[in-house]
Amino acid sequence: MHIGVFIPINNNGWLISATSPQYMPSFELNKRVVQMAEGYGLDFALSMIKLHGFGGKTEFWDHGLESFTLMAGLASVTSKIRLYASTAVLTIPPAIVARMATTIDSISGGRFGVNIVSGWHKVEYSQMGMWPGDAYFGKRYDYSTEYVQIMKQLWETGTSDLKGEFFQMDECKMSPPPSVPIKLVAAGQSDRGMEFAAQYCDFNFALGEGVNEPQKCIDVPRRMLAAAAKTGRDVGSYILYMVIADETDEAAMAKWDLYNQGADREALAHLLGHAAQDVNTEATSMAAAIQRSPSPINFNMGTLVGSYASIARMLDEAAAMPGVKGIMLTFDDFLVGMENFGTRIQPLMQCRSHVRLAA
Ligand SMILES: Cc1cc2nc3c(=O)[nH]c(=O)nc-3n(C[C@H](O)[C@H](O)[C@H](O)COP(=O)(O)O)c2cc1C
Repeated sequence: MHIGVFIPINNNGWLISATSPQYMPSFELNKRVVQMAEGYGLDFALSMIKLHGFGGKTEFWDHGLESFTLMAGLASVTSKIRLYASTAVLTIPPAIVARMATTIDSISGGRFGVNIVSGWHKVEYSQMGMWPGDAYFGKRYDYSTEYVQIMKQLWETGTSDLKGEFFQMDECKMSPPPSVPIKLVAAGQSDRGMEFAAQYCDFNFALGEGVNEPQKCIDVPRRMLAAAAKTGRDVGSYILYMVIADETDEAAMAKWDLYNQGADREALAHLLGHAAQDVNTEATSMAAAIQRSPSPINFNMGTLVGSYASIARMLDEAAAMPGVKGIMLTFDDFLVGMENFGTRIQPLMQCRSHVRLAA
């Protein structure tokens, strides 16, 4: 069972609240988080790409770094942990991303992979004049398909001559090739998104659901297994959870209550408004997940609140769902949270006993 961390590349991580820890993103913060993660034997770190925030009094996600350049820096200060950067496919051409990935493969010694972000948040792109029109919502995975085909051709053969609906390559060249196959991942929640991951990716990220119901999302990895059965590829799910831990269940729940009381209503209203613009919203998509609650202070991702022992038990339950190959964590406070995960939670987890043995 792989465990990774969704590093805080934008301000305040994933809590849209004025009473949760407030911080700006920096290389130094992310370096400390990832080096700690590596020290505790975590398998990977992923940074998202988010180009427009939601304002409000917390200026939520109005402040953010860029994913590939951050991961290139982190590659040079780590040695074991696998690193993933995210490409927003509407913003960077695939031939450039293929070369950037090969460069970070070289910096990291073969520890790099790419998260394909097809795009659900229109204003990120329209602010740059890069939104192709609302028909794109329904075509985003067709566009992403040509995009990854070009990257794979460049990595595997050094040439792409793909003539598609969205891209026309003209004997495009790239060398040197990466030292190992670059892993591709995605985070599709819709059926179409999972179909894409089943065809081209190594695994697919999914949002957990509910508070202290680690298996509430059990249908999601099942749907991914069904999609992978159709392509015959071994593509599992990595589930995203937020961990809010303390010495006792009560102390952890008091923090979660406090964060909810401080919900940044203005930023949340913007988030809900932006999500509603995704006209291709299937009941299973991210936009739909966000809209399921009037106050999605952490995007309605699965949330585990409790003592260190309770969190360890719930993470083991999450890991036991069919089709789950990994778990990705976010924290309210990434430095304290990562330290407590490494010293207090992971040592209690059955599904991480191999890390204890290795140590
Ligand atoms: C773990 C995870 C990471 C994601 N990373 C990004 C990201 O970096 N940038 C972004 O705009 N969307 C990101 N998303 C959103 C997905 O790329 C995808 O658009 C969303 O889950 C909706 O799925 P759908 O396109 O199948 O409806 C992420 C989602 C998850 C669960």
